[in-house]
Amino acid sequence: MTHAESPSWVESREVAAAAARLWLLAGETPEYASFMLSPAGQIVTWNIGGTRLHGYLAEEVVGQHVSRLYPREDTKRGKPDEELGRAAEEGRLDAEGWRLRWDGSRFWARVVTVALRDPAGTLQGFWQETHDITERKQAQDSARALADVGRLLATSLNAAEVGQRVADELRALLASENVAVYGLEPGSSDLVTLAVSGEVKSDLSRLVLTQGIGAPRLAVLERRAVVMRDLLTDSRITLTVEARLSIIHAPHRAMLAVPLRIQDRVIGVLGILDWAGRVFDDREVRLAQAFADQAALGLESSRLYRESVRAYEELLRTQEQLAQAQRMEAVGRLAGGVAHDFNNLLTVITACCKVGLNRLSAGHPVRRDLELIDQAAAGAAQLTGQLLAFSRKQALEAAVFDVNLTIEGVGPMLRRLLGEPVDLVMRLGAGPAWVKADPGKIEQVLVNLALNARDAMPEGGRLVIETANAEPGPTGARGGGGLPVDPYVTLTVRDTGTGMDTHVLARVFEPFFTTKAPGSGTGLGLSVVYGIVKQSGGEIVAESEPGTGTTFKIWLPRVLEGPAGSLRPGIVSGRSP
Ligand SMILES: Nc1ncnc2c1ncn2[C@@H]1O[C@H](COP(=O)(O)OP(=O)(O)O)[C@@H](O)[C@H]1O
Ligand SMILES: [Mg+2]
Repeated sequence: MTHAESPSWVESREVAAAAARLWLLAGETPEYASFMLSPAGQIVTWNIGGTRLHGYLAEEVVGQHVSRLYPREDTKRGKPDEELGRAAEEGRLDAEGWRLRWDGSRFWARVVTVALRDPAGTLQGFWQETHDITERKQAQDSARALADVGRLLATSLNAAEVGQRVADELRALLASENVAVYGLEPGSSDLVTLAVSGEVKSDLSRLVLTQGIGAPRLAVLERRAVVMRDLLTDSRITLTVEARLSIIHAPHRAMLAVPLRIQDRVIGVLGILDWAGRVFDDREVRLAQAFADQAALGLESSRLYRESVRAYEELLRTQEQLAQAQRMEAVGRLAGGVAHDFNNLLTVITACCKVGLNRLSAGHPVRRDLELIDQAAAGAAQLTGQLLAFSRKQALEAAVFDVNLTIEGVGPMLRRLLGEPVDLVMRLGAGPAWVKADPGKIEQVLVNLALNARDAMPEGGRLVIETANAEPGPTGARGGGGLPVDPYVTLTVRDTGTGMDTHVLARVFEPFFTTKAPGSGTGLGLSVVYGIVKQSGGEIVAESEPGTGTTFKIWLPRVLEGPAGSLRPGIVSGRSP
């Protein structure tokens, strides 16, 4: 190359001379690129600084359009020509932007473009000086972005929000096509997309990256950053046929994947995607890792926060259940004790009445009084009976029987009780449901529940009675309700009535708790139901919502063998289908 020779298209003497002087000067400046462009933007000269910055030798770029030095997204938007146009118009343009190195990596450049004109004002070309200011710019930007993310972390415990912010900031800083934050599902090896920045195919937003796919997985396994120029050709990963087909037409195949680490645990991955061929240099990898560390902190603290909220709620619930159980226990003991002693007194009263009545002649005037005392004592005995039932102190006559048969047996009576406007539907499980309990008391349970349902459906509605044989669920599946771990039969009674609010619902099983007018409710119906179910070794739970209806679910211990002489369960039942 002969430096003094000015390009052939420079027609003005003065411009040619000035260009030659600049050219001489530029040849000696290795710290920045300075070169000349034709009016159309072709590179005409190239200095040692250009080779240092961009990695191209003069013979590789002279004659090429300057857009070769711009990243693809800028070229697509026509930025190179637009900048030359502005320089031509204003004489000088001082602009910043990304520039490419020969290997596809990029640096942030400050580029000064000077339009070269002859004295007649004809544009003869451009002079360009390019400085690499990446370090300064990225130090500023990343410090700001990291501070922003840090501030967000201090105020937000929302994992999605933190993930999104990290993805957005990093995409801007690295000027990459898209950035995704994946969370590693606890207890599995799936990576689930938490946030995506940049344009993506819609299905990427809920992508689950399973075993064997790509750079993110490798980053999880190796616990360090993984850089791939092209996912398709990288030998470190094996792609399934489907995965290969799905990315073969995808333009974004260069990837930087950095693990989200908390101490030595990997909780996710930050994935940065760009056009195939883009190279992420060490500085960019370090930057991405700094963001990954922030994101990891954010995700971890939001997980811890969610966990402690859940634990706290669970504790409150358990405490409430315990308090309720203790209250019922205390009330039960009190009621049972009173009822027991009171019953003894009633026995004496009734016996004395009987003796007195026997001794009096048919027309004796005191006879009427004794009869009234006897009737009142019978009423009182009924009441104490209910209290004894609630406190699980009544005499049960336990037998093994098929609950389904019992329900069918009381069906006609329930229908009469419910009356016309209520529709009674029975959905009894297939095969016999053997339980060991007092069949008469189970009938009483059904009657009491049906009476309440009727009261809750004055305008009519539907009462569904369901049974099912169930195997034991996982322990504690019902939240510490004390479910028997043995097999059981479920009996569900559901109405479409008024329902209850939580305050009423919390107290339904308490003796004497009623919302009904004096005289129409005793508040003992459900207490008796509760006592019978508990005394039979079962559990009962009420669920209700105002305006929707109420469901009572009862679990009764199931017996696998029927009474002597009956058929084994599950083979043939004696019942008509
Ligand atoms: N199926 C139901 N639908 C709505 N509320 C009900 C239902 N069953 C019971 N309740 C509520 O529970 C209370 C207690 O019921 P219970 O012990 O049977 O007493 P009582 O029926 O005498 O009021 C009722 O007063 C009512 O408020
Ligand atoms: Mg009742």
